[in-house]
Amino acid sequence: MSSAVVVPRAEPAAEVGVAAELQSTLVELIDLSLIAKQAHWNVSGPLFRPLHLHFDEIADEARGWADDVAERLEAIGVAADGRTASVAAGSGLAAMPEGKVEGAAAVRLVSDRLDRIAERVRQRVEGLDGGDALSQDVLIEVGRGLEKQGWMLREQAV
Ligand SMILES: [Fe+2]
Repeated sequence: MSSAVVVPRAEPAAEVGVAAELQSTLVELIDLSLIAKQAHWNVSGPLFRPLHLHFDEIADEARGWADDVAERLEAIGVAADGRTASVAAGSGLAAMPEGKVEGAAAVRLVSDRLDRIAERVRQRVEGLDGGDALSQDVLIEVGRGLEKQGWMLREQAV
């Protein structure tokens, strides 16, 4: 009879911390997808076309990252919470203004919010050093993507 393979697991307290970090990231990414869509629809001015397309790309990426984070939560045995009320209560990001927004203002509105999430994700990645490396890896991927989009937005700021 072979001996059982013991898979090392993180301490329960650490798992709770990892889940909280993933859940916070999840609601922020869902909010970012909505923020980017709002900008996609309402941007106006001479740069309408490239900004309209760029904001849609950010919305798509945010939805993909949110899915990765939610499925990591499920993989560690925690139910992901992407409900509207949870996003509104948890993201902590300022609402987008109502109505049309001129191109440069739209870039600032989205990039301010995106940069804030990127900074939080970077802090979470650093906080997970020595913890659950696989969850940390998911957040590293998200953070890298956020910072790339932040750079691309800043390059369009006029
Ligand atoms: Fe569209």
